Amino acid sequence: MKIFIDSANFEEIKEAVSWGIIDGATTNPSLMAKEKGQSVLKLSAEICKVVPGPVSLEGIAETANEIIEEAKKLSSIAKNVVVKIPMTIEGIKAVQKLSKLGIKTNVTLVFSANQALIAAKSGAAYVSPFLGRLDDIGQIGMILIKEIKTVLDNYGFKTQIIAASIRNPEHVKESALLGCHIATVPFKIIKQLYDHALTEKGIATFKKDWQTLKI
Ligand code: E4P
Repeated sequence: MKIFIDSANFEEIKEAVSWGIIDGATTNPSLMAKEKGQSVLKLSAEICKVVPGPVSLEGIAETANEIIEEAKKLSSIAKNVVVKIPMTIEGIKAVQKLSKLGIKTNVTLVFSANQALIAAKSGAAYVSPFLGRLDDIGQIGMILIKEIKTVLDNYGFKTQIIAASIRNPEHVKESALLGCHIATVPFKIIKQLYDHALTEKGIATFKKDWQTLKI
């Protein structure tokens, strides 16, 4: 499974990329808003330069024509830009046109298998189900990932599923067990993927025992 970093913070993106396991990145207007005082276009270009794979950038246009214009501008920032488009009738109309123009899209804010089916039929390169936000309202986000995987596999769609709105390492593991193509993961949770209490304990014991050895 590919791991994307879900962030617009340049320093944490650079740090995670240096660990050698990052395949791409996703941003959104809320993540950008956390990077106060920075030019969105400049920051987007810097992120695209440092990430060794697709970078999803999102705008705020609402009609198909406006979304297409915005997508053209965003995709001119760098070759690895993927345009994130919310799941609406207008958004999907834009996805269909952009796919014909060779501009890759990531249909976002997906909360049902039917929405994912429509996005895939329309030529979206990626579809982003938000599992954490479903968990937040008392539903089971992972069921959605399973349903989308089954539906897309049933018909051989090339659209890749990005498990998004990841809240904990368990979400990453479960996504991988279901054969999800990608998980987009916040920096803090990427770090947690490396950790296990028994690993730390084991290292401490080995270190202590080493001190008793004759070299
Ligand atoms: C990724 O594409 C989404 O923008 C992100 O995962 C949303 O996560 P949140 O529900 O934590 O805002």
